[in-house]
Order: sequence, then structure tokens, then C-alpha cells
Amino acid sequence: MPVTLVIGAQWGDEGKGRIVDYLARQAHLVARFGGGPNAGHTVRVGDKTYKLRMVPSGVVAGVEHCVIGPGTVVSPAQLVAELDMLAFNGIETSRVWLSDLAHLILPYHVELDRAAERERGKQALGTTGNGIGPAYVDRVARVGLRAGDLRDMRRTRRTLYERAQALRTQGVKVDLDVLGAELEAHAQRLAPHIRDTVVLVHEVLERGGRVVVEGAQGTLLDVGLGTYPYVTSSTTVAGGAGAGVGFGPREVDCVVGVAKAYLTRVGGGPFPTELAGPQADELRSRGAEFGVVTGRPRRCGWLDAVALRYAVRINGITHLALTKLDVLDSFYEIPICTDYAGNEHWAWPFRVECGATPVYETHPGWLRPTVGAHAWDDLPFNARQYITAIEARAGVAVSYISVGAERSALVVRPGAPLAGAATAGP
Ligand code: IMP
Repeated sequence: MPVTLVIGAQWGDEGKGRIVDYLARQAHLVARFGGGPNAGHTVRVGDKTYKLRMVPSGVVAGVEHCVIGPGTVVSPAQLVAELDMLAFNGIETSRVWLSDLAHLILPYHVELDRAAERERGKQALGTTGNGIGPAYVDRVARVGLRAGDLRDMRRTRRTLYERAQALRTQGVKVDLDVLGAELEAHAQRLAPHIRDTVVLVHEVLERGGRVVVEGAQGTLLDVGLGTYPYVTSSTTVAGGAGAGVGFGPREVDCVVGVAKAYLTRVGGGPFPTELAGPQADELRSRGAEFGVVTGRPRRCGWLDAVALRYAVRINGITHLALTKLDVLDSFYEIPICTDYAGNEHWAWPFRVECGATPVYETHPGWLRPTVGAHAWDDLPFNARQYITAIEARAGVAVSYISVGAERSALVVRPGAPLAGAATAGP
């Protein structure tokens, strides 16, 4: 069972990129299974920071194959720009593969996304404005274009013509000459990267290779199980990984859930443990909580163990990675939400939508730097107590703890998946 899944256990931005970067050092293939350039995965190596939106974070570790899977939606223009950025920084991109089954995000999807947000006014979802929702709508409505369609631009131009006719009735004008020419240029540039990734993944699995599958966004943004309608348009939970890459559940041996030591969200929607005022400002500034994709300040709050337990259950999380513990180094007291008052028989998304009132358990802070810790025993006693309390509430062990932005600032506990991975650079 050689597949390890890395799943965001909160509202995204948990720091999945750095955990994938660590695990990828023993993997033969890293794949993305869903979402699109709404994701922003940051990997920091020395003084270099890589901000990835489509290409799996394993590319920085120099993993043999990086796959953008069939369940994703991809903007050809953005992918070309990202490949150029990586190549410019000396990162090898010749084995970045785009599934021919992945759907394309085209400029009219971006236009539709932004227009829908404007129409929602005060009820805006706060999307990243990258056309994610409309691209998934086209996929489900069976009118989308896939990366494999770029192999036959004559047929693709005909499909675009039909789409343009339909879009005109929605008030969206598509300049087919401009779009066709742009797409043709991107098709040429991406041609060496587009392939049947399903067979590739299975070839790797059949030769006993190890596959790491990288989730995008987070569990609580899942289109079905998250805080609907304040969610993204794809499946973000572990169950979507097989469908989004093309393998069965028996291949998976570990599900690593990544959670911050506190909680953030961007965009609209309920957030029971959200803070306002100086504590929120302190979390935001210490944690550099600004969106990678949009630059928006993130909403900040205390760790919600009810939501985390929900995430552990629906993903089958076997190990937790707790990130950004160092951000809490300056707090005298650190509350954890252990329950909500009322509506206990409602599904979690309805509980929070209806204004759940959090019940807190407060832990003493440790008030000293955790940066530089490499082992569990290096962490202050109160930090270890805090983590132990999270494990008890979540019902699963915390196997990784990040204590700084740099790649090596990671405590790996015995029993963590692939804990033998080297910490050297690519
Ligand atoms: P969309 O995915 O751009 O349609 O945005 C829908 C919701 O998901 C918005 O609240 C976004 O802020 C949120 N979202 C989408 N991608 C991410 C992500 O990678 N991190 C955090 N939030 C995200």
C-alpha cells in the first residue's frame, strides 16, 4: 500500500506544501488530485521561497514525477508561467506531467467567477477569483475542455465556438481569435507535459514505488462536507484522492492531516473561534497570515478541536502534522475549542452555520522560542502539553510539528510516515 495522502484538515493554508516537500524526498511520484490555481503552496528552502499554485510541491524536492491529476482544473496560462518561474530558479520541470483528463480554466471562467461574486454582493463567497467554480460547473455540465483536447486544436476551436455561442446568452463575450491564438501557443508549450498520468501512476505503483498525493485547500472547504456554500467547488477530502488521480482505496496506507496550531480562513463563511482585535493581529503578523494567491489578510482564531475531530473522521487521518507552533510562542494563554453549545445532533457544517458558541479549555503558554527544536524533548513542557491535548481531542497522534518557515524547522516524531527522509536540499 504505497500511497500517502496529505490532506488539509482545516480551511486550507495549513502548510501542506512543506509536509509534502518532506515526504516527497522518499517518493517516486507526487500528485495533485483536485482544485486549481486557487491553491498556493509555499516551500521555503534556505533564503528561497517557492510559491506553487498548480505544480505539486514535490517538484522542489526533485521528485522523479510530479503529476497534476485528472481531478484538477488548470489554467494553461498560469501553468506556463509557473513552469517558467521554476525553470528560472533552476528547478527541473521536464517531469511535471499534466493529466490529459484535467479540465481547463479559460478566461471566460475567470470572468464568470468574478461576475458571480459581484452579483452576490454582501453574500459574496470570497472566492479567489480564478474561475474555479465555473470550470468545475462546465466539467459537471459536460461542456468543459480537457488538457488532452489541446492535442487537436482544430476540434478545440470548434468546441470553443459552440461555448462562445452559449456564453453570449449569459452576457459573456468571448473573442475567439484571441482565445484561440493564446490557447494554441499554450498548447505547444504544454505539449511535452501532457500525458496519460493514470498509467504512469500505476506503473510507479506496480514497480513498488511510493506515491505522495497532495491535497489542495482543506477539509472544511470541501464542496459536500464543508461549510457550504462557503466552500470551494471540488472534493478536498481524502476520499476524493483516488477519483482525482485514478487509483483505488486499497493503495493508501497513511493519511496525513495537516493542521495549524491555531486556525485561519480566507473568504466568507462561519468561523466559530475567530478572534478580533490584538490577539488576531498578533496571530496574523507572527504567522504572516496573508493569502499566497490573493494577498488577502486571513481571518485568525484559536484551534477548533471539534472541527479537527470531524476532519480526522471524514478523512480517516492516521497521523497529524501540526504546523506553525512557533507562532504561539508569545501567548500567555492558549485556548482550544473543545465543544460548541447546542445543536449537537446537527451535522458539523450546520452547527457552525447556525452560530455555534465555542466552549474553550485554556492552556498555559510557554513564552519561549520553539524555533530550533528538532526533537520532541526540545519543545517546552507547556508546548508538549498543548500538543498532547490536541491529540486527545482529535483522537490521533501528532507526528510532525513545524516550528519555523524554513524546511528544516520540523520535529518528526518516531512512527511518522517516512521519517527517515533526509533533510538535505534537492
Ligand atoms: P474558490 O476555490 O476560488 O472558488 O474559492 C472558494 C472559497 O475557498 C473561498 O473562501 C476561498 O478563499 C477558499 N479557498 C480556495 N482555495 C483556497 C486555498 O488554497 N486556501 C484557503 N482558502 C481557499
